[in-house]
Amino acid sequence: MDPTRNAFPEKNRNLAVGSARLQEVQKAVHYYVDNHHCDVIGRVFHGMPGREARVSFSPTRRDVRLNAEGPRDVLHFGSYNYSGLNGHPRVVAAAEAALRRYGTTVSGVRLLNGTCELHLELERALAEFLGFEDCVTYSSGYAANLSVLSALCAEGDVVLSDMLNHQSIIDGLKLSGADIRTYRHKSLRSIESTLKKLPYEQRKFIITDGVFSMDGDVADLPGIVALAESYNAFILVDDAHATAAMGPNGRGTPAYFGLQSQVDVLTGSLSKGLPGIGGFAAGSKATIDLLRFGSNGYIFSASLPPPIAAGLLEGIRILQEQPELQERLHHNENYLRAGIRSMGLDCMNSESPIIPILMPAYEKTFELTRLLHLEGIYVNPVGYPAVSKNRTRLRINVSANLTQADLDRFLDALDRCSRKLNLQDAPPLQQTGT
Ligand SMILES: Cc1ncc(COP(=O)(O)O)c(C=O)c1O
Repeated sequence: MDPTRNAFPEKNRNLAVGSARLQEVQKAVHYYVDNHHCDVIGRVFHGMPGREARVSFSPTRRDVRLNAEGPRDVLHFGSYNYSGLNGHPRVVAAAEAALRRYGTTVSGVRLLNGTCELHLELERALAEFLGFEDCVTYSSGYAANLSVLSALCAEGDVVLSDMLNHQSIIDGLKLSGADIRTYRHKSLRSIESTLKKLPYEQRKFIITDGVFSMDGDVADLPGIVALAESYNAFILVDDAHATAAMGPNGRGTPAYFGLQSQVDVLTGSLSKGLPGIGGFAAGSKATIDLLRFGSNGYIFSASLPPPIAAGLLEGIRILQEQPELQERLHHNENYLRAGIRSMGLDCMNSESPIIPILMPAYEKTFELTRLLHLEGIYVNPVGYPAVSKNRTRLRINVSANLTQADLDRFLDALDRCSRKLNLQDAPPLQQTGT
């Protein structure tokens, strides 16, 4: 044995030691595992997650009795498949044909050997669909925000960002080095009080989600546009949950308000209302040229697999041909919201296919999720850090492919399960803000 070995302390193998942030994460991991919450977090899907899905509890569950039951058929009320196009026969056929012709990947980045004609066609189709001059795609919505914000905002710029903006915006802004001023959720007054103090010539941006991913409310785009005009600010909107889920034919929040020409950059995801994976940024030709040659996610990361691009193109065609898909989606969300509110449950200010049900405590959120699962209904529980600790919730994502019978079955099950947990008699929740 090496005689010097004992002269050194043991090497630390616990990554959390020495990092306050990782210790916080470790605490959360222990909390979920020790309290058996992992059975509804990271549940396993067997087959296609469409209107229905075959799902089992998460394999980390220690109580093996429930898992021993095996997979269960559930109605899917937790999918980002807003327009219901995932698995659409035309989307699958287009992706299959592209798979045979191009393979599974282009094996390269966009700027070098990673561009095929499907990428160009998809970007043209997206730009036209969304109502912008040009568009560029990235490998995810997360990558789109990181790439766009780190490319377009820089040290010396001031960025006003809604306090409930998505994590990808927060991370992208950190990379940019800009001076970040967070404003109260949707508060025009809070935005204006910051803008007022800045010189007119100062480069500044207002950044907002179009539809807020946890609360399901919609940005006050007309108000933001008016302020940006008065105070000389650029506007960036992240429409991840609005593309193919809001506005005429699903063209997004700017189209919903008729304000496409006032929004400088629109980012979004291709894996929610649209049936693929990836992200995009749309804007003027000059802005998108800047991003093509100046954003890291375009230059240093592989491009979308061609079968995905082909499926997305077909999805956009279907959305344009069939406005009834979005009509059905909005009928479904309105019907569900009204039904849930009639039980005395709190859907916050939801006005989109994202419907939160605010819960009095973490434990109840997981219990309700589990009870609904056993009734054949899939919904997601959401807690800290995705939302603040006193705003735990169930989050329902509505899809156009749910039938009237599905909606009624959901409301029935929710009524039964929430009564079991005495939620409908719960005292009013303390709204202490996020
Ligand atoms: C508002 C918002 N922006 C961006 C993203 C990231 O999109 P993607 O899943 O395509 O990376 C999400 C993901 O849920 C989101 O909710």
